[in-house]
Amino acid sequence: MAPVDDLHIFVNAGAMAHFSSGDLTSPLVGLDMSSSEQIHPPGNGLVIESGIIRKIAQSEEILAEYGTPSNLYDLEGRAIIPGFIDAHTHLLWDGDRSNEIRMRQQGMSYAEIAEAGGGIRHTVSQTRSSQNLHGIGVERRDISMAHGTTALEVKSGYGLDTESELRLLQVYDEMQSDRAYPQLYPTWMGAHDIPHGIKRKSYVEQILSEQLPAVLDQGIATSADVFCEPGWFTIEDTEEICKAASKGGLSIRLHVDEFTNGGGLELAAELGAVTADHAIHSSDDARAAAAEAGTLQGFLPGTPYVMGSDAWPPIQQCIDEEWPWTLATDFNPNCQSLSIPMAGSLVTHRLKIDPIASLAAVTRNAACGLNNRNRLQGVIAVGAQANFIELKSSLVESWCQSPGHSPIENTWIIE
Ligand code: NIG
Ligand code: FE
Repeated sequence: MAPVDDLHIFVNAGAMAHFSSGDLTSPLVGLDMSSSEQIHPPGNGLVIESGIIRKIAQSEEILAEYGTPSNLYDLEGRAIIPGFIDAHTHLLWDGDRSNEIRMRQQGMSYAEIAEAGGGIRHTVSQTRSSQNLHGIGVERRDISMAHGTTALEVKSGYGLDTESELRLLQVYDEMQSDRAYPQLYPTWMGAHDIPHGIKRKSYVEQILSEQLPAVLDQGIATSADVFCEPGWFTIEDTEEICKAASKGGLSIRLHVDEFTNGGGLELAAELGAVTADHAIHSSDDARAAAAEAGTLQGFLPGTPYVMGSDAWPPIQQCIDEEWPWTLATDFNPNCQSLSIPMAGSLVTHRLKIDPIASLAAVTRNAACGLNNRNRLQGVIAVGAQANFIELKSSLVESWCQSPGHSPIENTWIIE
């Protein structure tokens, strides 16, 4: 029996989305994502010991067994769901590109804005000279957590030289030492853009000979990401960088086929990438190959939303074909939202995706794309981390139905 202080009991939950069927380390696909089997009816409770869920049962049964310990909390019928996992963020950068909205409204494309001195390179110059990256990162981490995120993937990529990329990763490491939650999963994305004054090929060579070895030596990043898109990094560049990164022990996450079908998703499948994100214009064959290879398709609905684009990813098709997929915010200077409920609203309200399937995409499925098999998260199951969200409503579907307002009563992280 654990010491009393170590025991936390929650009773009288409303509906409970648990996503605990089958092998918990594999993503849910197809209709399993939204099946009523993923939801316990109202009236259940949780017993948590040392931060791990030990029992899920009817509230009366729990109270009869444990009495009324000091850490007893009555959920009063409010629904609970796993803590969100935001599996694609560019958390750390300085500056402001809010002026680009007008350029987009005037019809300039992402590439044209970049050519005119905006875009990623603009943020790179502001980030390199920033004196306040730690403070910015902490503030954003707290915003993310206030929206229910308990683990987030965080990319570098606004440094684009060895020293600046290492610095961004170092800040993520320091942020994590300040506080354990939300958990940060750092990804090196030195191949986010080509810096000013150097040709693409030379930059790729620099990445391979200098930047990547330094990142591996530093030992903070656990994944590598490349912006594999015509006009940025080619299929060949991406393959070369990813193979070297894999050899160094990093897992692969990619940005693919955001503006056009450049063959990025096929490559992701060939490389055995953990996830290939955006994937708006990918072919059906590439999607099937990704599913076969165990590569998640990571959809980022905030991006077409802020770009004013009508090119939405084919999420319903992924459900119909039983291809594994996730959702994330893609927080970046263009898409300044760290709200997973907002991403959920976009796909449920705009694309008619089932709200429970969408919830599986930001919890269990997103957890499958993180590099931490020691921590079971993204599910409410015996043996899982006790990170969960108490919604204001008794209904699980409410998690994504209040755009602009938080659906969350409390985010619980029991350590
Ligand atoms: O995922 N597409 C590349 N990177 C980001 C945008 C970065 C930026 O515009 O600063 C993305 O959308
Ligand atoms: Fe991105």
